[in-house]
Formats: sequence, C-alpha cells, structure tokens
Amino acid sequence: MTNADLVVVGSGFFGLTIAERCASELGLRVLVIDRRHHIGGNAYSEANRETGIEVHRYGAHLFHTSNPAIWEYVNRFTSFTNYVHKVYTNRGGEVFPLPINLGTINQFFRSAYSPGEARALIAEQASELDTGAAGNLEEKAVSLIGRPLYEAFIRDYTAKQWQTDPRELPAEIISRLPVRYTYDNRYFNDTYEGLPVDGYTAWIERMADHPNIEVRLDTDFFDLEQEINKTATVGQVPVVYTGPIDRYFDYAEGELSWRTLDFEEEVLPMRDFQGTPVMNYADLDVPYTRIHEFRHFHPEREYPADKTVILREFSRFATREDEPYYPVNTPQDREGLLAYRQLGDAERDVYFGGRLGTYQYLDMHMAIGSALSMYENKLKPRFTR
Ligand code: FDA
Repeated sequence: MTNADLVVVGSGFFGLTIAERCASELGLRVLVIDRRHHIGGNAYSEANRETGIEVHRYGAHLFHTSNPAIWEYVNRFTSFTNYVHKVYTNRGGEVFPLPINLGTINQFFRSAYSPGEARALIAEQASELDTGAAGNLEEKAVSLIGRPLYEAFIRDYTAKQWQTDPRELPAEIISRLPVRYTYDNRYFNDTYEGLPVDGYTAWIERMADHPNIEVRLDTDFFDLEQEINKTATVGQVPVVYTGPIDRYFDYAEGELSWRTLDFEEEVLPMRDFQGTPVMNYADLDVPYTRIHEFRHFHPEREYPADKTVILREFSRFATREDEPYYPVNTPQDREGLLAYRQLGDAERDVYFGGRLGTYQYLDMHMAIGSALSMYENKLKPRFTR
C-alpha cells in the first residue's frame, strides 16, 4: 500500500484497534507493520503442533473488563467462553488458593477463623511496622499483611520475579496487597470475563480483516521509515507508534528498564498434570515462578486424552535484545519517561500508544480502551476536520 493514509507500527491490540476504527469508520487506508512474523503482539496464540492445544505464546492471557463499551466492542470480533480465572500456589509442599483469602488464611494457620477474627489477626500482625515509614518492599508488605503471610506467600515469589532480595526493592513497587476475608478466590473482580471461543489469533485476525487494512509482517518500522515518508503524497503520513518509546528516539534519554520472561514448553504424556490452569511456586528452591497448563483454559474443547502442554515461566531483567514485558519503573525510568514524553509531544505527526509506546503495563482491555480514546479524541478529529 504505497498511498496509506495512516501507518500503524505494531499489530497488538492497541495498533489493531486504531487500524480497525480508522478503516471501518473513516474509510482510511491503513498500513499496519510488525517486526514479528505474526499479528497480535503479546496476545498471540497458536496450536501446539503435537496436541492441537492452544498455547498463549507470550504467557497466559485472560480477558476481563468492567467497561461495557469495551465489552461491546470486543464482542464484535469474538464471543467469549464463561471461563473464570483462579490461581493456586504451591508453597512448602502444600497448595493454597490465591489471592490470599479466608481459605488461604485458615489453611495456613490451621484454624477456622471467621472473617472478623481473621481480619483482627492480620491487623495485629501487620501492626509490627508502620506503612508510611516502610523503607523497602519487605517492610511495606509486612506493614500490610503481617510477617507470617508475607514470608510464606510474597517474599520468595517476589525475589524470583525480580531476581532481587525484597529488602533491596523500593517500597513503591506494591501499593496494596489484597486480602479477601471471604472464601471467594476468583482472581479478577471484573463484571465481564472469558476467553475467546475460537482463540486469540482468530479474534485478532478478524480485527485486521478489512479491505482497507494491509498488514506487513517481519518488517521493522526503522527499516521502512524513509520509504513511508517518501511515498506520502501530501506531507508526512501520520504514524501511530506502539513500539518502545526509547527506541523511537534512539535511546537519547537513556534506556528504560524492563523485566522479561523466559518460557520452557513441554508436552507431557498424561491427560492432566496439575488439575488447574496456573500454579504459582512460592519457594525459592524452585527456579520458575509458575506453570501454565493450557488445556484447562478451554475445558469445553476436545483435546487429546493422553497428552498435555505445560509452560514453565522464569522471570529476569531484560536486555535490549529481550522482549520487554513489565516496566521496572525506577525513579530514573520515570525521569527518562518524562523526557521522552516531552520529545513525543513535539512530534506533530506521530501518536505514541500501547504498553511499549507509553512505558506502562496495560491489560488488554486497557490497551483497547486507550486506543478507542486516542481514535475518538485525536485521530477522528484530525481526519474529519
Ligand atoms: P503489544 O506488545 O501486544 O504489541 C506491540 C507490537 O509492536 C508487537 O507486536 C511488536 O512486535 C511491535 N513492534 C514493536 N516495535 C516495532 C518496530 N520497530 N517495528 C514494527 N513493529 C514493532 N492482559 C490481560 O488483559 N490479561 C492477561 O492475562 C495478560 N497477561 C499478560 C501476560 C504477560 C506475560 C504480559 C507481558 C502481558 C499480559 N497482558 C495481559 C497484557 C497484554 O499483553 C497487553 O495488554 C497487550 O499486549 C497490549 O497491546 P499493545 O498493542 O499495547 O502491545
């Protein structure tokens, strides 16, 4: 497409929402480019070759939102199963439900506390330290949920996630640690929740399926930048950029730091390995943070009775060559981000969005919601004035 009206860099949920809206509602010709070999960004999934079981290539993706407009929008492209996410944690050879709830507390303290009794116990244990005076993550966590629960469920898991002793991590990494004084262990509190019936890739492909949308894969924006500007008929083609903001400015204000994940996939010769989709491992002597078993995300599907696919997840700091997954957000990162935002504001024809373009963790519904709002508030007025 040599005469695109708009170029979208990145085919994740942010980029595709922009492309879909601009093509369907404004009739614009949109060129979407992605450096990966597939569309969908981190939400991409594919069938494991040996078993046909759908594997979320970049870690488990569960859709949830309480926003009716976003729910209505995503239902244009897919219907959802009635999957409800629940997580368990293996700690000291015992399995507990998460997030920490009355079931976790009573199992851990070998007791039968009522909600009021449990609340009083945790408040008393948490009174050991003052939240306002917490100087590191450990002190903050102890001041919120008390030392016994912190040491059992948070300390070693956090150390594995960050590859750092929690006493050396800043207190601001956690703002709150939810404890539920009921037996409800639904992971998300949102009104709407489910998994796309035909899988993520089918959903994503339907978003891109429009005669005005051209998707070019295996293409890095920075290799194409010159060509895009040369072929523009009038002035510069506006660009929606959802890649890393520091890369856009050639790291002029320094590199923003990220955590990344490594995944080890294995097909096991059994129907069921762990009886649940996600099992966390809270102890330090287990090197991975969690194991996903993908068949459990779709109990309604016919999967093989003698094989299952598991994915072990390991966490570490990212180098420039790694996939950036979670912003680390140190004070230095925040300073760098401010500087990049100022540089970004000065780029008249480039709109920065998505999790990499804004350097923030966004759930899928948040990426879609923020793309819908960029479309309504910035792109639509620009193209219809
Ligand atoms: P996304 O990263 O998906 O897409 C950006 C795209 O830009 C990528 O495809 C990349 O290749 C491309 N790109 C970058 N630079 C480029 C360049 N120079 N040229 C061309 N292309 C370039 N959310 C949720 O709601 N529920 C969940 O359970 C999870 N789980 C989860 C697990 C893990 C491990 C992670 C890291 C994230 C989640 N998420 C999630 C969040 C979810 O992945 C996120 O909301 C979306 O990926 C955001 O979509 P974006 O389009 O912003 O980025």
